[in-house]
Amino acid sequence: MNIPAVTPGLKQRLNVPDYVQNARLIAWVGEMADLCKPDQVYWCDGSQAEYERLCDQLVQAGTFRKLNAARRPGSFLACSDPSDVARVEDRTFICSEKQEDAGPTNNWTPPAEMRARLQPLFDGCMRGRTMYVIPFSMGPLGSPIAHIGVELSDSAYVAVNMKLMTRMGRGAVEVLGEDGAFVPCVHTVGAPLAAGQKDQTAWPCNPETKYIVHYPETREIWSYGSGYGGNALLGKKCFALRIASKMGQDQGWLAEHMLILGVTNPEGKKYHVAAAFPSACGKTNFSMLVPPEGFAGWKVTTIGDDIAWIKPGTGGKLYAINPEAGYFGVAPGTNTLTNPNCMASLDKDVIFTNVALTDDGDVWWEGMEKDHGQLPAHLIDWQGKDWTPEDGKAGRKAAHPNARFTVAATNNPALDTAWDDPAGVAIDAFIFGGRRSTTVPLVTESRDWTEGVYMAATMGSETTAAAFGAQGVVRRDPFAMLPFCGYNMADYFGHWLKVGGKLQGAGATLPRIYCVNWFRKDAGGKFVWPGYGENMRVLKWIIDRVEGRVEGQETMFGVSPRYGEINWTGLAFSPEQFATVTSLDKEAWTQEFQLHDELFDQLAQGLPQALSDTKAAMEARLEDLLATH
Ligand code: OXD
Ligand code: MN
Repeated sequence: MNIPAVTPGLKQRLNVPDYVQNARLIAWVGEMADLCKPDQVYWCDGSQAEYERLCDQLVQAGTFRKLNAARRPGSFLACSDPSDVARVEDRTFICSEKQEDAGPTNNWTPPAEMRARLQPLFDGCMRGRTMYVIPFSMGPLGSPIAHIGVELSDSAYVAVNMKLMTRMGRGAVEVLGEDGAFVPCVHTVGAPLAAGQKDQTAWPCNPETKYIVHYPETREIWSYGSGYGGNALLGKKCFALRIASKMGQDQGWLAEHMLILGVTNPEGKKYHVAAAFPSACGKTNFSMLVPPEGFAGWKVTTIGDDIAWIKPGTGGKLYAINPEAGYFGVAPGTNTLTNPNCMASLDKDVIFTNVALTDDGDVWWEGMEKDHGQLPAHLIDWQGKDWTPEDGKAGRKAAHPNARFTVAATNNPALDTAWDDPAGVAIDAFIFGGRRSTTVPLVTESRDWTEGVYMAATMGSETTAAAFGAQGVVRRDPFAMLPFCGYNMADYFGHWLKVGGKLQGAGATLPRIYCVNWFRKDAGGKFVWPGYGENMRVLKWIIDRVEGRVEGQETMFGVSPRYGEINWTGLAFSPEQFATVTSLDKEAWTQEFQLHDELFDQLAQGLPQALSDTKAAMEARLEDLLATH
């Protein structure tokens, strides 16, 4: 192993604290400091004192506004540049050596070409700024499922967000020890300052040039030009999904865009469920679900709200951890009706980004009027402009639709006691769901692992205006991983089949796989299923299936519940309404299979034969259905 030489002079120049013993880390920080040319290098220790100091600094710089301490203690509001409000999928690259390893769903550039392009951009990119060295553990410190990353960033906003979102600081460095491995992540806002120049804006970024670059084979991340969310907090989508999915492929585990929840029945038996939904389909809500009337004694607890790392472990089971330590959730639409646990999590110690400011120094976003019974008479919107309900009527939002909160998981009153357990939790069921106003039923169980992989692979979701332009168009989003898979999607399907096959071959009982859809609409365009806490009714049916307590009924598309198998106590939901959300329409499904064909054509290279065979079997069942109706 090639351990670089670290001289006392280098350590001094880089301000390396004594507790940092990893020569490769020090040498890499030195190399990057030489390239990026910051004014100074600062090593984050992750302490509360450091967090408070950096937040104060952000207040002084105008990036943060301290919120009214009586209403929202320990909390801040940041408003971004209007050009820097979301992940930039078209500027996100998977730079594997071979294009076929990135696959047709990823932007690809050969690594040497991308490095040549980025080198001059990063040369001097941190001039006039501090380079923060941000060591972090994705997952409980020292967990066999966890991995370490180190982000270098010229943004204090990133440093404080990483403190809430990960196990950040000295603890991660100690896990690294002298020769531990880490994923190097470099981030710059791409706005160097000339000597003596001050920032002209509270949200420096590069409005023209953005690059979110992954080198999956060498496990590196380089991000340029954006200060926002997934573009800048590199532990989240870049490491925990894109790089980690590739690590999982190489090492036999799974990195998934999934929440993880615990559900305990009145007898005290606990189950664990991991569920994948595309962005903006209510993952945070589902992970913090409050059981409705009729579910006395049932409890749902949160392990994670966005990402799961899952490794095979003892007894042939799959063990999952939440690699994150906080939530970076979408604020608009959240209120005490949709997610009371989330609202309680946001009472204190929160960083808000791009929500509106009330006249008494608190925050507001669209959807909060349901709690307050009315709209506020006046706000400052996320762009710093006055806002009144008249503006709202004219369609101007006070909060940006992708406005976010960043909050530590420990704020969540429904946090699972095992959320920080290094061993993870054993998964009993996987759920996959998209936003579909037609076609896909409320819930169905796959007959086997392969059929479940098929259901997940062909998942689609209707786009929401906020995130993806045109509204209501079905975008295929296999496993909810379309923007997050760090390698060829067809190979990713193969990997899932392989992981399941291997466990099954060793005699393991695999988690069951379910497909859900909370979003079916009636002929009048209204949602039929009430959603939110009422999703507990579906969750209970899933557990009843796992326990073999209900039979369900075979359909063309898996096993679905009979009306009588769902607990309806406390909800008036007629058999007719149930039929509206569970029926399978032959014409809709004929068209749906054509769309699956299009996806499979796109992913033809490397597509597992087992998925084409599963499709053929479903189509044959659809024919039978036609024949019997
Ligand atoms: C997220 C996303 O921010 O999926 O979690 O976009
Ligand atoms: Mn997500």
